[in-house]
Amino acid sequence: MIDIRGLSKRFGNKVILNDVSLCVREGGTLALFGPSGTGKSVLLKHIIGLLDPDAGDVIVDGVSITKATHRQLNQVRQRVGYVFQGAALFDSLTVGENIRLGMDIDGCRHAATECEMRVAECLRLVNLDPATAWMYPIELSGGMQKRVAIARAFAGHQRYLLYDEPTTGLDPENAYIISKLIEKLRREIGVTSIIVTHDLENAYRVADHIALLYEAKIRFVGTVEEFRNSDDAVVRRFTSPSQALAELVPV
Ligand SMILES: Nc1ncnc2c1ncn2[C@@H]1O[C@H](COP(=O)(O)OP(=O)(O)O)[C@@H](O)[C@H]1O
Ligand SMILES: [Mg+2]
Repeated sequence: MIDIRGLSKRFGNKVILNDVSLCVREGGTLALFGPSGTGKSVLLKHIIGLLDPDAGDVIVDGVSITKATHRQLNQVRQRVGYVFQGAALFDSLTVGENIRLGMDIDGCRHAATECEMRVAECLRLVNLDPATAWMYPIELSGGMQKRVAIARAFAGHQRYLLYDEPTTGLDPENAYIISKLIEKLRREIGVTSIIVTHDLENAYRVADHIALLYEAKIRFVGTVEEFRNSDDAVVRRFTSPSQALAELVPV
């Protein structure tokens, strides 16, 4: 379980998160919405201790991120795969080497053949040919790079996956492929995930709960059904943007 408790964070005098609490149950998928620049990526980064909160805490599988020792933090990072905004692959490494980085945090402790088999298995799970392992990221399309980034995130059998805008910038077909893939990973591997997205269709397909971060607070959290039916004016900017924004933005 990922339990975000009263998280607050400011940069300079700009308050990004103000007493944010959210919980993702085991096996659950939470979609996180919010305008650009509100702090969605900042929130995700706190979960694996890439940022320190000013107040509050994140508890992952009972481990407090703020109180964890270096060793405990590494163990948490081993359990939580992170698909960074963009694909964030290492250009100078092959696809296979990129995926191996996800297998364990201290470099590959496994035998070479075991590594190769796992890389091939991960590529298969994201519907890429095993021969892709020998290619470089620059030789792949944007959609394929995203799939490699996802493969890297679960290569070490991570139980949690954090996806930061996995379909942003992709054409509709590739966006569809990625959201089907996210659904498949939940079904076949049973991962617990948080997906930051602007893509309603993707969220409705993969998530069971939706949260909306707005002006440093959680404005809404509930089931997909509750989100779709909410009459909160801010939620409606996301669920029926053309209608809600026409009332709001005079052009
Ligand atoms: N390390 C940082 N130092 C200073 N400001 C930051 C840092 N990371 C993010 N910010 C600021 O915090 C705000 C939220 O950023 P971010 O979480 O990336 O937004 P988004 O919701 O689009 O993911 C932005 O104004 C961004 O400029
Ligand atoms: Mg972001």
